[in-house]
Amino acid sequence: MTISQGNLIVLESKDTNFVLNMTADGPCVLYWGEKLSASTIAMTATLLTRQTSHGVASKEASISLCPTRGSGFTGLDGIQLHRNGRNWDSHFIGAEIVKHTKNTIEILSSDKSASVSLAHKIILDHDSNVLSIATSVTNGISAPLTIDWCCAATIQLPSRINQITGFHGRWANEFQTQKIDQFTGAYVRENVRGRTSHDNFPGLLAHTKYTTELDGHAYGFHLGWSGNHRTVSERMFDGRSFVQMGEKLLAAEVILQEGERYQSPNLYASYSAAGFSGLSQNFHRFVRSEILRDTVKARPRPVHYNTWEAVYFNHDVNTLITLANKAKAIGAERFVLDDGWFKGRRDDTAGLGDWYVDTAIYPDGLHPLVNHVLNAGMEFGLWVEPEMVNPDSDLYRKHPDWVLKAETAPQIPFRNQLVLDLTKQEVRDYLFERLDSLLTEYHTSYLKWDMNRDIYHPGSNGYAVTGLQVRALYGLLDKLRLKHPDVEIESCASGGARIDYGILSRTDRLWTSDSNDALDRLNIQRGLSFFFPSNVMGAHVGPRDCHITRRVLPADLRAATALFGHMGMELDLNELTDDETKVLTAAITFHKKHRHLIHHGNLVRLDSEDHASTFGIVSENGDEALFSYTQTKTRDVTTPEVLYFAKLAPLRTYKLDLLWPLDFDKKTTSQLDYLDGHTFTGEALMKIGLQLPHMHPATTLVFGLKATIS
Ligand code: DGJ
Repeated sequence: MTISQGNLIVLESKDTNFVLNMTADGPCVLYWGEKLSASTIAMTATLLTRQTSHGVASKEASISLCPTRGSGFTGLDGIQLHRNGRNWDSHFIGAEIVKHTKNTIEILSSDKSASVSLAHKIILDHDSNVLSIATSVTNGISAPLTIDWCCAATIQLPSRINQITGFHGRWANEFQTQKIDQFTGAYVRENVRGRTSHDNFPGLLAHTKYTTELDGHAYGFHLGWSGNHRTVSERMFDGRSFVQMGEKLLAAEVILQEGERYQSPNLYASYSAAGFSGLSQNFHRFVRSEILRDTVKARPRPVHYNTWEAVYFNHDVNTLITLANKAKAIGAERFVLDDGWFKGRRDDTAGLGDWYVDTAIYPDGLHPLVNHVLNAGMEFGLWVEPEMVNPDSDLYRKHPDWVLKAETAPQIPFRNQLVLDLTKQEVRDYLFERLDSLLTEYHTSYLKWDMNRDIYHPGSNGYAVTGLQVRALYGLLDKLRLKHPDVEIESCASGGARIDYGILSRTDRLWTSDSNDALDRLNIQRGLSFFFPSNVMGAHVGPRDCHITRRVLPADLRAATALFGHMGMELDLNELTDDETKVLTAAITFHKKHRHLIHHGNLVRLDSEDHASTFGIVSENGDEALFSYTQTKTRDVTTPEVLYFAKLAPLRTYKLDLLWPLDFDKKTTSQLDYLDGHTFTGEALMKIGLQLPHMHPATTLVFGLKATIS
């Protein structure tokens, strides 16, 4: 329900209210949190009227959705624009509500003297409590308008919020979290890598010191954008604080002619009073209902076999057919042919751009392999990296002018490849024709769309075009999906360097990380899970000795880590011992049996001590759950810890079973010996907990809980 009260605009979702105050400086977030009664909402403005202070302007500028210099705002501003140096002092007034439905508000304001208008579009999704906000700016006259910065939104935070958690990482170690006390001044993260990036995921959590996984105030912010971005969390000198996100623009990247409009990417944000896990459940619900395609949601996500870590560039049809047979026998449902199948691609120095099957290796095209895979009852998937070109390729030799480049600076080497200029129509046409004809010729149900370098010099005809390049990529993906709606696409960028809601709106799966090291993966997957649900999280069982970390980990652990995502295998199946084959087959059977719960249940991360990683997945109706406990390190006391389950129905009775590993090597007698046939109330499992047995480090126990019929 949407209510207007005087200057207040109130949006309501299942559990929250979002209240905007229409001030002279524009719409400001006055309250955003747990749902309030209408009479309490009416008191908000009075209660939150700011105390005047000394040594400051007599009129304090509000933290509007897009605060301006013209309003006298002293924090980092929400918009910076000018006309050749003039009109730098924009001040948007007369905010008018142009659309107001159950869950949407559109607000228009203008700076009449500068002939610029500003529009905000806000949608609060009822079921998920997730807000989507975007801002656009339009030039009303013939003098060009340069936009240096236009945030998607600036969201004022309640004063009790005193900590933030940011995300950082690197190749093969994405989604690391960093919790810091909010300090006076600005926390600013800027990404100029031209893709979402490994090191600066555009996400932020704002919370209190006391927020835990299961309890407390938690706000989450994510910019759905696959290019350059900027995140600000500022605590101003007057004590107010806010979060602001938007597309980071390079010099003169956006110059609007008369009537033209710049549209920011969407900022997605949510609030939960039920801690970080509650917040993640909001985002997961939103992704599942609003971002993913119905056709993809309707069917179980097929278990993958991916060829990369088995053969790398050494493609050979017979070897691949053998792998396909073994993958099928173990339980794979989709066979994905990774890098190395196209013309001249024997290593990473050549071939990108020449999207024709290499007949030196595949004399009959991909038909024999594809037919074999299909006849075996699996789907076929293909790796591509359309945005890139190797200088050693027919495409580059023919069109050296098709790449992005700086005007004077030399190209920065990066995996021997350059970036095609997608802002050129002829480049997009070429790529569309190649992809379309491959998808038409081969019965392909899946593309792994990779992107393996940063874009440091996003120049086209002398101008910076990072944003246009991203928009052109989105257009290409949209066009391809329209023509081939049954083909699923995975977003991969050297692992997880392009993971965001912008790309996910055009793809169906995310390649989380190139690291298949299960211990590192647990942490990476935990970080990813703040904003993304398990059904889009690509997770593969990798080789015994991880190719990236060289750590040797047991098959039980590797399998238990992968089976909680969109599961796959990526290893040389010829190297498996009988025991490993047994474990892998059992893990895939386990995954398929519980796939619906894993992919659609509510994720509950548990606050774990340093030596463990613990989470559960509980079905929406509380009937069943899986809980995973991994001991990652040696513990510093002799007795193992007690596992406190969470989010079960307290008064219902659950049958508790140890479901994984297949053969748990208990060192001593333990409580687990007495579980058979035992049932416990949800209350007992959550409040008393279960004494865990002795475990070696790098062991995962998965418990199943099923409510008994009362
Ligand atoms: C990087 C990806 O992340 C890998 O999974 C693999 O597809 C390689 N590219 C292939 O070049």
